[in-house]
Amino acid sequence: MERTIAAMRNRPIPGSSGLIRAMSLLGDPVLHGICEPVTDFGPSLARLVEDMYATMYAAEGVGLAANQIGVPLRVFVYDCPDDEDVRHLGHLVNPRLVEADGITVRGPEGCLSLPGLEAGTPRFDRAVVEGLTVDGEPVRVTGTGFFARCLQHECDHLEGAVYTDRLTGLRRRKALRAARRAPWARTG
Ligand code: NI
Repeated sequence: MERTIAAMRNRPIPGSSGLIRAMSLLGDPVLHGICEPVTDFGPSLARLVEDMYATMYAAEGVGLAANQIGVPLRVFVYDCPDDEDVRHLGHLVNPRLVEADGITVRGPEGCLSLPGLEAGTPRFDRAVVEGLTVDGEPVRVTGTGFFARCLQHECDHLEGAVYTDRLTGLRRRKALRAARRAPWARTG
């Protein structure tokens, strides 16, 4: 998800020890494949999550999935406001979207893998995701509004889907045409 970052908190900033990694863009096979579950909760996973935070903040995003930095594992990070401007900051390993309900809202949605573009994309107004922390502790995250959109968007990434896959008809054709004409577009 793409949007300006919120204010920093007075505590160690996630990603402060991470490396900014290259972003996988639309058309990169790793972005369009299903990610594998994490089985190793060792230091390499902690480094991956730190790198993901660092890369998300550098790109001024509100969410980032591991395959967006070329790692096909089921992990995402987020630092995202909801519609009441409450900040949600965290990460999920092996997340499962266990509930997605309420009204469907079509709202502007962007993605760091399609920089500079956005399209009105339908999403449920409420989402619940269960998964694990980097230490293997179970967590359950509930989101509404824009944060629910973010949770659904990041879960989609782990299935190899991007928001344009949620579009239909003219909206989809326009979004894909804009992506083809974007300065970062892959040719051939
Ligand atoms: Ni995205």
